[in-house]
Amino acid sequence: MSTVLSLTDLAVELGPKTARRQVVRGVTLDLVAGQIQGLAGESGSGKTVTAMAVLGLLPGSATVSGSVRMGTTELTTLRKRELNRVRGRRIAMIFQDPSASLHPQLSIGAQLTDHVRHHLGMKRKEARGRAAELLDRVKVPDPESALNRYPHQFSGGQRQRIAIAMALACEPEVLLADEPTTALDVTVQAGILHLLRDLVDERNLAVLLVTHDLGVMSAVADDVAVMRHGRLVESGARRQMFTDPQHPYTRQLLEAMPDAQESEIL
Ligand SMILES: Nc1ncnc2c1ncn2[C@@H]1O[C@H](COP(=O)(O)OP(=O)(O)O)[C@@H](O)[C@H]1O
Ligand SMILES: [Mg+2]
Repeated sequence: MSTVLSLTDLAVELGPKTARRQVVRGVTLDLVAGQIQGLAGESGSGKTVTAMAVLGLLPGSATVSGSVRMGTTELTTLRKRELNRVRGRRIAMIFQDPSASLHPQLSIGAQLTDHVRHHLGMKRKEARGRAAELLDRVKVPDPESALNRYPHQFSGGQRQRIAIAMALACEPEVLLADEPTTALDVTVQAGILHLLRDLVDERNLAVLLVTHDLGVMSAVADDVAVMRHGRLVESGARRQMFTDPQHPYTRQLLEAMPDAQESEIL
């Protein structure tokens, strides 16, 4: 088990001067190669802010303390340009709305090829071949013709697959996935989760999977951390979390979702 990214005592303060709030505090978590670390908790508990802090994507007024370390690199104190490089090459992110990673007016081929060229330094033709391979890998049908189409010509599920292809283009070590299936209906959701699991195993990716949905969590996460009011109240192996939750809040979440224990799809 090799740790790829470590959060240690991460804290984030946000809001206007007169109403500063600590929205994340004392978060300590390791992302391990080949594993999906789930981050659960109700809406507003600080999950997205945690992921954004890892990427350095919080508003300039945010105060981040503690450590986000990747190997010997401390990310919280990196200069913007260096952080951009880490973000492009070593850490990728997908969002609830795949449109966030896709430009509406550029063909899929233009965006994906550009991305591959930029990150892997390939020539145009080679990059286009690579883009088609990536689309094929995420199971977008007919990749060659998909390259000539635009984001709005795909369904939500296909768009999320394309966003995953974009994320994989730089061959990242870490993937942050923030509610990646929340906007999709259940069957489409299951397909995306299967894909995610396969990619993690195949590429030895370390994944942080943020979701308020314990069904999603129980389907694919190896470990689960439960967040409440900006703190982790419990973390551990998925099975233990679902069968023998220690913290009353975790029990409460599980009770609110009686099918969660049974929904393992893999
Ligand atoms: N840019 C911001 N400025 C001020 N407060 C924010 C900002 N972004 C998020 N928050 C607050 O931080 C808390 C955690 O939000 P978030 O991480 O988005 O929750 P989650 O992803 O768990 O639903 C919430 O109370 C939210 O209102
Ligand atoms: Mg969120």
